[in-house]
Amino acid sequence: MHDKKILLLKNPFYALVISVNSDIRFLFEPRNVAIIGASRSRGKIGYNLVRNILSGGFRGKVFPVNPAGGTLQGIKMFKTIEDIEEEIDLACICIPAPKVFNAIQSCARKKVKFVAIITSGFSEIGNTKEEEKIVSFAKDHGMGILGPNIFGLYSAASSLNCTFGFEHITPGSVGIITQSGAIGLAISGKAASENMGLSAMVSIGNKADIDEADLLEYLIYQDQTKVVLMYIEGIKNGEKFIQKVKRATLIKPIIVIKSGRSKKGAIAAASHTGSLAGSDEVFNCITRQCGILRAESIKDAFSWCNFFSHNPLPKGENTLIVTNGGGIGVLAADACEKYGVHLYDNPKVLREAFSTIVPPYGSTKNPIDLTAEAKSKDYDAAFEKGKSLEEIHAIIGLYCETAVFDKENLADMILSNVTQTRSAGKPMTFALLGGESTARDISTLKRRGIAVYDDAYEAVAPLGAMFSYCRHRGDPPGTDDIKEIDVKAIENLCFDANKRKGSLLLPVESREIMNIVGIDIPQSFVARNIEEAVKYADLIGYPVVLKVISRDIIHKSDVGGVALDLQNAQEVINGYEAIMRNCLYIEPQAIIEGIEVTKMVRQGIEMIVGARRDKIFGPIVMCGLGGIYVETIRDISFRSFPANKKEIIRMIRELKSYPLLLGVRGEKTKDIDTLVAVSYTH
Ligand code: COA
Repeated sequence: MHDKKILLLKNPFYALVISVNSDIRFLFEPRNVAIIGASRSRGKIGYNLVRNILSGGFRGKVFPVNPAGGTLQGIKMFKTIEDIEEEIDLACICIPAPKVFNAIQSCARKKVKFVAIITSGFSEIGNTKEEEKIVSFAKDHGMGILGPNIFGLYSAASSLNCTFGFEHITPGSVGIITQSGAIGLAISGKAASENMGLSAMVSIGNKADIDEADLLEYLIYQDQTKVVLMYIEGIKNGEKFIQKVKRATLIKPIIVIKSGRSKKGAIAAASHTGSLAGSDEVFNCITRQCGILRAESIKDAFSWCNFFSHNPLPKGENTLIVTNGGGIGVLAADACEKYGVHLYDNPKVLREAFSTIVPPYGSTKNPIDLTAEAKSKDYDAAFEKGKSLEEIHAIIGLYCETAVFDKENLADMILSNVTQTRSAGKPMTFALLGGESTARDISTLKRRGIAVYDDAYEAVAPLGAMFSYCRHRGDPPGTDDIKEIDVKAIENLCFDANKRKGSLLLPVESREIMNIVGIDIPQSFVARNIEEAVKYADLIGYPVVLKVISRDIIHKSDVGGVALDLQNAQEVINGYEAIMRNCLYIEPQAIIEGIEVTKMVRQGIEMIVGARRDKIFGPIVMCGLGGIYVETIRDISFRSFPANKKEIIRMIRELKSYPLLLGVRGEKTKDIDTLVAVSYTH
């Protein structure tokens, strides 16, 4: 089951070993389920699990297991799992931690495919050894482990409610993967109250074996799931996560809430599910790279999920606002700018379409202002136009309670227009502002699966998320033109440097590495005496820079080993002599191997490019505004490697300082191509 596949990417540096669970379907659609720790005591987890499976209408068979035998909730209880004749695809364990390993051994003898371990008391409290022992034994016996420390799983495809939480879960199209049990259960409760059905909900807890990436394998190909929501505290195998998610977002939207942004939050996450939160900055950039929608709060995530699950993806970017209030129209327009929603702005088309609907003192400019005199029939007419206009791809409806509006028709008007607009392939969102009757309409509509909000920004935000997803899906970074580099040659150079004191590369070696990876650096030569220095400076052209070369001197400028901006031969001679004098005085023991003569680079905007191997996400490239303020301003962006040119360009465009590169106040555009080339060749 856990057949290891070696995925060799173009660059041997990035060879990944990925555990691929080929039959994850059996976890979501098991034919038979055994509950080890089924209990007759009401209120115990082992009781609730059996009750929820039975009342959820599971399509397969459920086998309670308890050494006492007898019956439970009308069905036979087995003393051990091995007494069951039928094949068991999923066993759910809810007995205390010290007994779990024995139960796992019985499951192995029974050839169970998946085991969900509800039990707490493993790596989240430092009992890592026991957890590892269980997983390694399970893997050796071809079993997949979900958990431990979970509340179970729900799967609409098999009507399986193998959780000890809510007895009734509404089936639908949102797939939830959660590392926190409580948050998962709270979301499913809220989902039920707002008529947002779930296609699946899986608690992954300590994710000792199966993680979110494995579960995506099922959810992205399962027809019923329209959107996936993940609550994550920490990623364990970042490279696997990136690879799976990049592919998954091309098929379905993935919304992520990741906690542990702050230092304190990260510590709390570590003790909750034993997760390493990793750098939030890196995670943030990786979500963008992979096309994931990262929500700040559970409220946002829930609202986006609800919106995605009920609305079609738009076919273009043009959005129309219809309102009965100018003020709320302006607020919504502001929100559109904030969330990247494009307002359709062809005045001629809008005038022709809406002039017969809007009163003379209203506005046919987007937002379409029907004025405070609008009644439900005016909204009907405006939405009908918006729905049928080819140029319009999404609609935002706004309503402020007024004395003249026929309030008794508000909910029906919204319901019918939203339903029809969605059927026409256009997403629609609504904000309603008013008193008690409006609040009642909002909750009625929510229960009927209509995305309505009591704030313009909240109404626009999910539409913005949808456009952002569509943009990524319509223009994914792709995997073309990923550069290959001669890693072996670089490793050889580093090998030599490692043998030396301090393990530092000499300038000439660094230069060679730059050559290997194809990064252009200013022309330079090593001079052994003053005559050579002048000769090389003449060859390079003035102004030049001189730098001391010595394995004993790491910080050259600290010892006066650098001379900048030398304009002619005489200045080169003076500079050379000054460097030798300074080094001899400050570091008399240093062996000086020569003086490097380099072209003096013209002043520009200092940028920084770096790369490292992140302990969670693997190879990472970073680009940002450089110079002495780099740490203070932290205008940096990351991408995981391998990344192609398109992704690198996107990384650079994300920088707040990007407009500086384009040139401000009549400045010339900077050499962005070179910056791309440098970032791209790491
Ligand atoms: N095989 C089958 N049944 C067994 C067994 C075995 N090897 N050993 C014990 N049992 C039975 C017990 O007799 C008991 O049944 P009974 O009530 O009919 O006597 C039942 O299994 C449960 O065992 P018990 O010892 O009563 O445990 P418990 O119900 O008090 O607690 C857990 C078990 C798993 C719930 C508890 O250890 C735990 O981890 N709780 C936290 C769970 C959690 O919060 N998870 C994360 C959620 S996000």
